Amino acid sequence: MSVVEIVDHPLIQHKISLMRDVNTGTNEFRALVSEVAMLLCYEATRDLPTEEVEIQTPIAVAHTKVLAGRKLALVPILRAGLGMVDGMLNLIPAAKVGHIGMYRDENTLQPVEYYCKLPSDISEREVIVLDPMLATGGSAGDAITQVKKRGAQHIKFIGLIAAPEGLKALHEAHPDVDIYVGALDEKLNENGYIVPGLGDAGDRIFGTK
Ligand code: PRP
Ligand code: URA
Repeated sequence: MSVVEIVDHPLIQHKISLMRDVNTGTNEFRALVSEVAMLLCYEATRDLPTEEVEIQTPIAVAHTKVLAGRKLALVPILRAGLGMVDGMLNLIPAAKVGHIGMYRDENTLQPVEYYCKLPSDISEREVIVLDPMLATGGSAGDAITQVKKRGAQHIKFIGLIAAPEGLKALHEAHPDVDIYVGALDEKLNENGYIVPGLGDAGDRIFGTK
């Protein structure tokens, strides 16, 4: 059974509320994306395997646990997913990072892929695909299809805000993929934007509008 989780921790709700504010500027917005990504990473990695080790503390030998070394790869969807990478790497610094470039055609809302560079051993890694916005679900769905085509079998998706339409579409397209998002909003508008959402995540992270 895969996980579909709205991670509504108070810190996440608070930070996403600040991000929604039209008066939040680029610097603060960028920092918030990174912080929320880190909080979501904490929840999405809850099932990582651990192993027992013996460690000498200044007082005694501790029988304690460390990560069992499952290899991870982060795959941000360009552009906006890039904003989540630093926050994720703060918690899992050994992860490799691949990139998938995609933009939505403004008229059809269909994703158009323009770049894909993944770690060569992606099939041996647990992959976490990153994109702040899950709107129609087309971009995340296609990115995950690409990752699967290259052999990845254990895949998660982390987003900041989802529309009900996108969450349903992504879960139906990839029922094996665990999905973690920080908020589930009302709907999509006629232009495919999440309502109330936060606007265009890429533009707000990179200050391009
Ligand atoms: C945004 C967002 C997602 C996509 C979500 O990217 O970052 O990738 O839209 O929409 P969907 O779920 O309907 O596919 P955009 O196309 O604006 O590209 P950008 O990140 O380069 O700005
Ligand atoms: N992409 C965004 O950046 N924002 C939305 O609301 C929908 C798609």
